[in-house]
Amino acid sequence: MKVLVAVGSKYGATREVAKRIAEQISERGFDVDFSDACDVQGVHYYDAVILGSAVYGGLWRRDASGLLREFVEELRVKDVWLFSVGMETVVKPGQPLDESDGFASLVGAHDHARFPGALDFDKLNVGEKALITALNPPRGDFRDFEGVRDWTAGIITRLEELAFA
Ligand SMILES: Cc1cc2nc3c(=O)[nH]c(=O)nc-3n(C[C@H](O)[C@H](O)[C@H](O)COP(=O)(O)O)c2cc1C
Repeated sequence: MKVLVAVGSKYGATREVAKRIAEQISERGFDVDFSDACDVQGVHYYDAVILGSAVYGGLWRRDASGLLREFVEELRVKDVWLFSVGMETVVKPGQPLDESDGFASLVGAHDHARFPGALDFDKLNVGEKALITALNPPRGDFRDFEGVRDWTAGIITRLEELAFA
């Protein structure tokens, strides 16, 4: 069974979450490709796709949402899981929480998880620093790798059922 784990990440926090997911699935004997969403040429090769993105301004990174939209028909007939990584403390008033809320039903995903992210102020560009200074959220690494591990264990259970069905 061929599995793709693809990710949209700007500063690397979400990429590391995706990498852990890919490693955990691979450790269970599945054939896993791990890729930035911008490098994915197609999904026809895969039986299952796990696609995630960091959330900025309520939106997924464009490479991740673009991949989903470009291959929506193919994804509909595959086993798909989605995840978002973000910080709900960095949401401007009136802004949608996460555009990907509709993505899961669009592709018939098994699940859409939301995980907390990380905020490294020094890495941000000038505009981002201004926004973060104004919103003043807690800074640091809030990623929940145990939660990610539990979620991935559920995916593996389903993949094993599908592989041996
Ligand atoms: C300028 C800026 C805007 C952000 N906007 C949101 C947002 O709208 N919703 C959210 O949940 N998190 C938001 N975040 C938090 C990021 O999603 C979080 O820091 C994430 O871990 C970044 O992942 P990356 O390192 O993979 O790019 C924002 C962060 C920054 C710096």
